[in-house]
Formats: sequence, C-alpha cells, structure tokens
Amino acid sequence: MKLVIDTDPGVDDAMAITFAALHPDIELLGLTTVFGNVTASQGTHNALYLSERLGLDIPVAEGANVPRVLPPFEPSAHVHGPEGFGNLKVPAPKGKAIAETAAEFLCRVARENPGQIVLCPVGPMTNVADAIDLDPDFAKNLKSIVFMGGTLDRQGNVTPFAEANTWHDPHALDVVLQSGANITMVGLDVTMKLILMAEDFTKMAEINSVHGGFLRDISHFYLKFYKTVGEAGCGFHDPMTIIAALHPELFKTDSTPLGVVLDGEEIGRTYRTEGRPAVNVCVDLDVEGVKAEFMEALAR
Ligand code: BDR
Ligand code: CA
Repeated sequence: MKLVIDTDPGVDDAMAITFAALHPDIELLGLTTVFGNVTASQGTHNALYLSERLGLDIPVAEGANVPRVLPPFEPSAHVHGPEGFGNLKVPAPKGKAIAETAAEFLCRVARENPGQIVLCPVGPMTNVADAIDLDPDFAKNLKSIVFMGGTLDRQGNVTPFAEANTWHDPHALDVVLQSGANITMVGLDVTMKLILMAEDFTKMAEINSVHGGFLRDISHFYLKFYKTVGEAGCGFHDPMTIIAALHPELFKTDSTPLGVVLDGEEIGRTYRTEGRPAVNVCVDLDVEGVKAEFMEALAR
C-alpha cells in the first residue's frame, strides 16, 4: 500500500507513523503536517524527528497552521503535552521540510502515482481541502482517503457533539466530503472501542525497546489526560486509521453520505445526510485483530 499520512504529531499520530514505518506491506511516501495537537511548525519538527528515529528517508512537507474559515486555535497541549510528545522534549531533527507546501506535495505525489495513493489524514482536514482547490484532479488521482475524525453515534471528545479533528476545521472537511474521492471515516464510533492502558504501552516497550519504548515514554501524559475525562485508558485513534486502510476486513462499515455542522453549538458534528457521495463509515471492528496487527508490526 502506497501511503501518505497528513498529521499533527501528537502521541497517537506517533503511533500511526511508527506502525506505517515498520509494516512491510506499507510504502510510506511522505508526511504532511498540519496544526491541531501542535502548531504546524512543531508538527514538522516532530514528523522529521520521528522519520529520522524510524530510519525513514521520506519527504516531510509543512501545511496549514490555521483553519480555512475559523479563527486560529491554540494547540491541544493539555492532551498531547507542550510539544506534542507528552513531557518529552525531543532533540532537533537533522533534516528540514521540503520546499513544497503540504498541498503541493499531496497534489504531486497523487499525480505521479495515479490511482495508487492512500491518503490518511489524522489531523484537521485543511491540507486536503487545499490540495482539492489546487488541483481539480487531486481527488480522482488518489486511490482513497481514510481519515481519522468525526463521530456518528457516539458523543464527541472536544464538545458533546464533535470530535477534535472535525471540530478544528469543519469547513475543510465539508470540501473533502463533497470531492467525490473514495472516503472511509474512522471516527470515535470505532477508535474508542479499543482503549489502551498503561500495561499495553509497557508491552510495546517489551516487544520493541527502541520504538515501543519511545511510545511508552510519550504515553504517560496522554494517559493522564484521558483519566481526567473519565476514561481508564486512551483511544486508539490515529494508528487504527492506518490499520483500517490496510485491513478493511477488520472493520464493519456503513455507507452513507455525510455532512458536517459548520457553525453554532454543534459545530464539527458529523451526521448522516443525503444528496452527496457516500462515505464508508467504520461502525464496528475486530478489536483483538486490530490490536494484534499493531503489536505484530512492533515485533517485526
Ligand atoms: C484525534 O484528535 C487528536 O488529538 C488525535 O491525534 C486524533 O487524531 C482524536 O480525536
Ligand atoms: Ca492526530
């Protein structure tokens, strides 16, 4: 699977990137960064750092630092830590972002690999909407978009209605949902059905001391945040999205046109609608199968 991850790294983003880097069936062609858990420039720093420590030689392209219509947000430091990796302060990466913007890179890589690229946005959708604006063939050139965000039948995680990624840039998501791309949504309906506890991170470190050990070290802050909102452990959001792209057979989906609320109290809420292209919404999963897939990649 030829993959590009659009990301705001971020603790669970780091898990997603680690999984993609270690999996033999994934060819990771690049990372694009966006605001959200951190600023876009901190995200670029983190993405470069992760690719270097994972031994990847791939482009990192920096993208949007603000949403398309809404005013700028403060990064979600209370969830992911001041620099995105819990309490860890990682060293400066050796590499730099490429000169192309995230949207330019996304358009180029899709054009050069027509019908082959799976794009996994695991942050706000701003860069993807920008790419759609930049190249009318962008959505058509992709194989699919499998995104982390939204929730249908479960309450939100930033407001009672909205999940964080869709809340951060609903206007961008609205553009993407109408683009005609082949889209799968991996939202809170499924990502909160797999809750990782501190013991799971300990196990990751036992399986793979270098990469699993890093994930354990950055997880403490994230797990503490989840405790403050009454959860025993953290959701498996971003890594599940990559697994859904690679192993759709582990998920049950519902095909429905989707809308997103653009203003008011329910802003960012995703809902079933009509009159738009259908999206495959993940509604259930093989929890043990998904978890095993992640652990097996770490063990390789
Ligand atoms: C999503 O929001 C971010 O905090 C996480 O990285 C994930 O992409 C979960 O709602
Ligand atoms: Ca994320």
